[in-house]
Amino acid sequence: TRRRWTVAVGVAGVVGPAVLRAQPRLRLRLAHVVAPDTPKGLMATRLQALLAQRSEGAVVLDVYPNGSLYSDADELEALQWGAVELLIPSLSKFGRLGTAVFELFDLPFLFADRAAVRRVVEGEWARELFEPLQRHGLLGLGFLDNGFKHMSARTHPLREPRDYRGLRMRVQPSLTIAAQMRALGAYPVMMDFAATRHALARGVVDGTENPLTNFWSGRMHEVQRHLTLSAHGYLGYAVVANATFWAHLPQPERRLIEVALADAIAFGNAMALQQEQRALQALRDDGRIQLHYPSPEEREALRQAMAPADDALAARIGPRWVRAMRERAQ
Ligand code: LMR
Repeated sequence: TRRRWTVAVGVAGVVGPAVLRAQPRLRLRLAHVVAPDTPKGLMATRLQALLAQRSEGAVVLDVYPNGSLYSDADELEALQWGAVELLIPSLSKFGRLGTAVFELFDLPFLFADRAAVRRVVEGEWARELFEPLQRHGLLGLGFLDNGFKHMSARTHPLREPRDYRGLRMRVQPSLTIAAQMRALGAYPVMMDFAATRHALARGVVDGTENPLTNFWSGRMHEVQRHLTLSAHGYLGYAVVANATFWAHLPQPERRLIEVALADAIAFGNAMALQQEQRALQALRDDGRIQLHYPSPEEREALRQAMAPADDALAARIGPRWVRAMRERAQ
């Protein structure tokens, strides 16, 4: 019912909107697992500000960053039972629902650049990928960028495929990413983002892959020694809503949220680019991590070594999907 969605929650650490009326008409909750100054964090606070401004305080979005309310393991479930109204999980995390199509975005060396990402996510085909979410009571509202992922390790520089052999690598819960690590002879270890830094620090895992913004804001440069700017994979997000909540929204509020969301996503995408450059500069200035720039030959060797991941995904969802994504992403 409407009432259920408008219940306010008083939890410490909630980021308050700039404009507040005494009685908000609608209160939404958005949980995420990364820092506020990441593309996703910045997009979330932009959405919060836009909703507050444009509704003059009638629509309030509470943002819970850093896994402070829900973490990877339970956030999708929390969205399904209505404990939050909005989420922005990475596309690599939907496998938990038994929906493997989003792993198409995890295919190695998929997008040549961000323009290629834009072409795919802004096309009608990408919207169709949201359809399976309906079975799970979820509604896909948009895609958000983070950027390209790079490999890191504590022990030694990762230059050639054989450098990965025997390493325990933290991965997101995506069988496609796991297959890439296995193809390199590494052991993929699936774990929550929130647990990753600690696991790296304690040597539970040896290395991982991240976009620069998550690597820097997650302070992984303090617990890794080598970062190879491999750009071997993409990390993006889907903005998803609880479908029942969405269906019960009055039309004006729904429209308000849709428009604000589109603006916040455009802002988040711009931030993804800007924050990535900032993170790289910050890592250079910090100086603790050794940066390695792979040669075209080294990237090609990595691409070839990871290629079996395509077949692994094709075997699960059908070669047609993998072919379609590869064609569109060129
Ligand atoms: C990860 O788990 O590495 C990322 O999906 C975290 C995030 O939300 O950016």
